[in-house]
Amino acid sequence: MYRDNPLKQLSWEDYQKLSVNERAPLFLRNEKPYHALFAQQYNRPIVERVCELATRIRKIAKTRGGMRFLQDLLAEKRAMLYFSQPSTRTFLSFYASCQILGIKTAEVRDTATSSEIKGESQEDSVRTFSSYFDLLIMRHPTKGFAERIAWLLSNSERPVPVMNAGSGADQHPTQALLDMYTLQRSFEKRGGIDGKHIAFVGDLARGRTVRSLAALLRHFDGVKAYFVAPDALQIGSDILQVLDEAGMEYEVTTEFQPVIPQADAIYMTRIQDEWDQAQESRLLDTSNYHFTVDDLAKLKSDAIIMHPLPRRSEIDPEVDRDPRAMYWRQVRNGMWVRTALICTTFDRDNEVDRYYEDLIR
Ligand code: CP
Repeated sequence: MYRDNPLKQLSWEDYQKLSVNERAPLFLRNEKPYHALFAQQYNRPIVERVCELATRIRKIAKTRGGMRFLQDLLAEKRAMLYFSQPSTRTFLSFYASCQILGIKTAEVRDTATSSEIKGESQEDSVRTFSSYFDLLIMRHPTKGFAERIAWLLSNSERPVPVMNAGSGADQHPTQALLDMYTLQRSFEKRGGIDGKHIAFVGDLARGRTVRSLAALLRHFDGVKAYFVAPDALQIGSDILQVLDEAGMEYEVTTEFQPVIPQADAIYMTRIQDEWDQAQESRLLDTSNYHFTVDDLAKLKSDAIIMHPLPRRSEIDPEVDRDPRAMYWRQVRNGMWVRTALICTTFDRDNEVDRYYEDLIR
């Protein structure tokens, strides 16, 4: 348990006055991420460490002995998966990660089945979860809710770690980590992520995965981002400001076709009209922001195509057969990265290292 924490000294009002950069160190313990709340918490050494650990766990899990080791690693822990928004991949990959590490799980996926229906506040619900569980993994429609809960629990008797599995249209930090892992693995033999050109395409205004991933890419040298979207769905100025401060090069454009041959990775996204009260974005013609089979010929031979999924029609399913289509790999990478993150949170990463070093000796 995280007893020695700076959030305890801070009122919620004072916390809210802090910039994101000032907030980031408050969620570390021994220089390692404890709460996982927003991408700006992670610097390059943390990203690289999580990726390294994910690879080690992936290799350890290939053997029966390795799986037994992993399943004993956190067998004394219990996790609550509190998802008040729909999810397939994030929920199931966190669930699978807990299974790999021997963590017992419970879930609330429909708040109508909890005492929230009787008028209990979400804060009291989550505080109740912390009485029974050692880790809270949560997806919530409200921006900043996971941060509020991390602060609340830090000022309680049970300051258990909180992992943000998607908050509002704002942040999806664990998706960003798995995307970084996918980029790192894909460019392993091409000098890594440094110097690569990454194109983000589609609904960038409300794509929380894009916002979180762009914030992580700024830690890598010579990376250039292309933000390709209709004006109404273009990336927020707050993210561009983060990139400006880091001196990262980027281009904002409505034209997809000229970008395709320049990109090392194309990160497609769907139109996020669940955030659109008036459904205006359904009326937009977004067909210019689709990746088709014909586009494969324009793409570099060693470039990759990514998508956080779920998709609609922005990537033709025929594209799936091309070896550059990396989105199903992303799905599986999510399980290894989330397993690595949970190990780090509970300070068991060094045990993974020791097992791995014995394995390869
Ligand atoms: N990428 C992602 O967050 O997918 P889900 O909504 O299915 O969890």
